[in-house]
Order: sequence, then structure tokens, then C-alpha cells
Amino acid sequence: MDLSLADFLALPDGAKVPYVGDRAVLYAQQYGRADLDAYCRLADAARAMHGTPEGRQRMGTLLQHRMALNFFVQPSSRTFMSFNTAQAFLGMSRTSLRDPKISSMSKGETLVDSIRTFISYVDLVVMRHGDEHAAATAFWTASRAHRRVTLDDGREVPVPIVSGGSGTKQHPTQALLDVYTLQRSLEPVGGIDGKTIALVGDLARGRTVRSLSYLMRHYRDVTLIFAAPARYQMLPDILEYLDAHGVRWRTADSIDAVVEEADAIYMTRIQDEHDTDKADGHVRAADAFVFRRRHLDAMKPTACLLHPLPKRDEIEEEVDYVDDPRVAYWRQERNGMWMRVAVLATLFGVEGRIGGP
Ligand code: NCD
Repeated sequence: MDLSLADFLALPDGAKVPYVGDRAVLYAQQYGRADLDAYCRLADAARAMHGTPEGRQRMGTLLQHRMALNFFVQPSSRTFMSFNTAQAFLGMSRTSLRDPKISSMSKGETLVDSIRTFISYVDLVVMRHGDEHAAATAFWTASRAHRRVTLDDGREVPVPIVSGGSGTKQHPTQALLDVYTLQRSLEPVGGIDGKTIALVGDLARGRTVRSLSYLMRHYRDVTLIFAAPARYQMLPDILEYLDAHGVRWRTADSIDAVVEEADAIYMTRIQDEHDTDKADGHVRAADAFVFRRRHLDAMKPTACLLHPLPKRDEIEEEVDYVDDPRVAYWRQERNGMWMRVAVLATLFGVEGRIGGP
């Protein structure tokens, strides 16, 4: 890394990607179709491997000598838990820092100094932070610091940084697990290629839908439908990216308008934690954007319903326990754990040892 932090952060994200390469997980734009296919296969292999006592035991030796820090200073349940579980499956030692008030950041330490300190002790930092530049700052710090991790094949690499959600802009491992869930759900009808995917809810501030949109350009003939009230519509930067890469998209003003056509519906929560004029309680989803039991009846028999979770009122409760394989969001949570095994194994160069019973 020959750039100053300020110069690195000033680059558009697409221009940061070549610096990041495969040494960290910061942006969905880091991944191409071959990577996505390989990660999905690896997640499947991890699932199968963990299904037998011998496989579980072998998996538990792969990163036994590594220590992970889960540095999550924004709320998290699934991402935190699934990274923790994936690390445990791979045999990693783990520590976490979730409350900046009880770290030296409350004494005025900069993020750069904090990260530099963390990587003195650990071999991996998974982080969630409200600042959209935090993960890039951590990556820059790890690249510039002296500490190196020696991989099993002798390569010396900076301590890997993995974003578990960065501001309102990116959530790359969520996008990988969403692709994995879409691929598994749509497998009987030929996978993601050629499909119509509706993204519903708060698209303006939802980092999951943004990261997922970037990845959709790697699938042939995909149509994205952005169904949201005007104030929550997808931002122009993503729409321009899709145009530049020839991905068809349009907007819609209700679930009713897309439900019969969509091969997948991806719901999201109103991200009202970002509201500056925050009233008491949570902002309710507008009626036209609430997924109801009757929508399941209207959906294609081969379609699937996803949500990164947590959810509130944007999915009618009745949908949660209905015995219908199209409701994929609970499986999606567990897919995240297998995908995170795949991501961590790849970062440490042990992906070739994932597989078999
Ligand atoms: C999402 C997030 O944090 O961006 N959750 C997640 O990681 N599964 C979505 C959300 O908070 O609405």
C-alpha cells in the first residue's frame, strides 16, 4: 500500500478493489462469477463436511492456530453469531469487542491506532462499524503495519480484515450468503440466471440490497425490481452501476405490482436508526410494502422469499410459521454460517481442505 490513508479513502470504492485483492473482504465488487460459484460450492462442502463426526473434527483443526477478533460496535445478532460459529467450527480462538465505551476508543484513541493494536494480538478482524470508511481504514492500517500472518503455504499477508457491515453502504458477506440462498432456492429452475428479483423496503439505506445489487451483474439476464416508497428508493450510484453493466432494472410502487412476476422477493427493514428526526418507536412499513400471507398465494410455485433480518412489521407474522419451502429467510440465516466458513477458509488458504465427509 503506497497511498496515504486520506488518498486511499478518497478513491471511489471500485478503484480501491485492486488494492484489496483477495486479502480482505470489504466490497461486493471484489467478486466475479467464478468467485461466487466457488464460494457457493465451498459453503455446500462445509455443510456436508460438518455433517459427520470425522468431518467436524477435521474442520476444527483447520484454523486451530489462529485467533479472531470480532469487533462489532454497531448492533448485530446474526452476523456476529454466524461469524462466531463459523470461527468455532474452524477451530479458531475468538475474542470480541462490542462496546467502544469500554475500549480505549473512549479515551480518544483513533480507529487507526485501535486497529493497529488489535492486530498485534489477533490474526483476523471481523468488524461492523457505523462509519462507511471504517473497514477501508482498518484494511489500510493492516496493510501498512508491520505485523504479518504467515499462511500455511509460507505466504506472509497483512492481518485480514472482513467487513460485517459498513455504514449504510456495504455488507459484502451478507451479499455472498444471499447469492448462496438464491442459488440454492432457484436451483430447480436453473439458478439465478434469467430471473427477476424484487428488492423491497428501505433500499436507500439498506447496505444488504446495495451489496447484492452489485453482484447481480454476474448473472445473465437478471432483472431487478426496486419496490419502495420514493424516499426509500435505491440511490443513483447503484442504478448507474447497473446501467453501466447492462443489468435491467425498474422501480415499482407495491408488492402487488411484482409478486406474480418475481422469482425472488427480498424484503428489508426500514433502517430508521439513520433518521435524524427520529420520533419515538419504529417507523412502520407502508401498507403497499408489507408482505402478507395472500402474497404467498400469488407468488410463483418456484419463487422464494428472502430477508437479511432482523425484520419488524414488513412481513406479516403468519408468513413466519407457514409450512412453505418458498419462505427462505430462516434457512438464509444458517446459509450465512456456511458461507462464512467458506470466506474464512479462503482467506487463510485452507479452502482446499474443506470437503469430504
Ligand atoms: C442487516 C444489516 O445489519 O445491515 N442485518 C444483517 O446483517 N443480517 C440488515 C438490517 O439491519 O436491517
